Amino acid sequence: MADATERISQIGKEAADSIAAAPGTAELKELRVRYLGRKAELTAILRGIAELPPDQRGVVGKSGNEVRRRLESLLEERAAELESSELESSLAEGAVDVTLPGSPAHPVGHLHLITRTRRQIEDIMVGLGYTVLEGPEVELDYYNFTALNHPPGHPARMSQDTFYVAPGSLTKAALSAAREAADGAGEEVAATPDEELVVLRTHTSPMQVRAMEAQEPPIFVIVPGKVYRRDSDATHSPMFTQVEGLAVAEDITLADLQGTLLEMLRGIFGPGREARMRPHYFPFTEPSVEFDVSCFACDGAGTLPDGDRCGICKGVGWIEVGGAGMVDPNVFGFVSDKGYDPERVQGFAFGIGVERIAMLRYGVPDLRRFFDNDLRMLEQFT
Ligand code: DAH
Repeated sequence: MADATERISQIGKEAADSIAAAPGTAELKELRVRYLGRKAELTAILRGIAELPPDQRGVVGKSGNEVRRRLESLLEERAAELESSELESSLAEGAVDVTLPGSPAHPVGHLHLITRTRRQIEDIMVGLGYTVLEGPEVELDYYNFTALNHPPGHPARMSQDTFYVAPGSLTKAALSAAREAADGAGEEVAATPDEELVVLRTHTSPMQVRAMEAQEPPIFVIVPGKVYRRDSDATHSPMFTQVEGLAVAEDITLADLQGTLLEMLRGIFGPGREARMRPHYFPFTEPSVEFDVSCFACDGAGTLPDGDRCGICKGVGWIEVGGAGMVDPNVFGFVSDKGYDPERVQGFAFGIGVERIAMLRYGVPDLRRFFDNDLRMLEQFT
């Protein structure tokens, strides 16, 4: 009897030590089989109780069952311990560090070609000492037209396909229809003066006046931004991007405009380019010009080395890129209280279309493709 109970307590001690030291749930399972399984020594002892002399059965059975129960509960406790620490370490292992690059690394995006072209123009002009300004896309008719020397009722207002977003959303057509209807009914209609209408700006030029209202001369600013016209074909989109330039100081001449355009166009199209101005008409400049850059594809020759007509400039040697001119004294008249006295200061202004430049530079045949957001198109211009 002494042997059996001693052995039982030995087994109990050995098993308790092993359970406490078990490094994982898998090892713990093995220990359970080893100490409490069908072939375990303790199991054999308990099973053999019947064969023991009757006076020993109680003592051996009691201590055997006690040890068995203790081992059961030790196994349970240790299992719980191991499970929670294993869960913790597997969570820690599987934790995602969201600051690491993906695996495989996700391709990094890139700026839209229009953004890149706009920024390139900004960089060139900042290099010439200009400041970059932005202005409202929803604009008063006053700034979009009136203060740019388009008097109310002036036909030049009609030459741009303007979106009207006036309070009450009156388009000019709707407005005159309403007036006519009211007139026919013998009613009085309070006419909405043109200046009170609200438009989506049709160009970035309104910022000329806003910039001059905010800053006395000298002023050297460029204004990149979105503009809107009711127009859509391969070279027009209802929304597009312009960069406006305005320089006003004493003794500014058309030669300064020519030199500035040349610098800008060389920055955009390459160092060998030339700039040319042709007479034109804009209400807010006098004189007004359109300006061209010598063709970068045929170097201004109009023909390619193989004798074919150049497709970029259509054989002309020059590519039209924008409008410009000397600021009309009438425009200064709207900001004369800010020190813009045409007897004292002169200035030039210019406007270019960013999409047009990107189309030319990168051979994009349809302007609308810039805004389809089709990655197959956009990814070609990284
Ligand atoms: N705002 C004109 C347009 O969108 C372009 C332009 C012409 C801007 C002459 C100018 C300028 O600043 O002087 O058609």
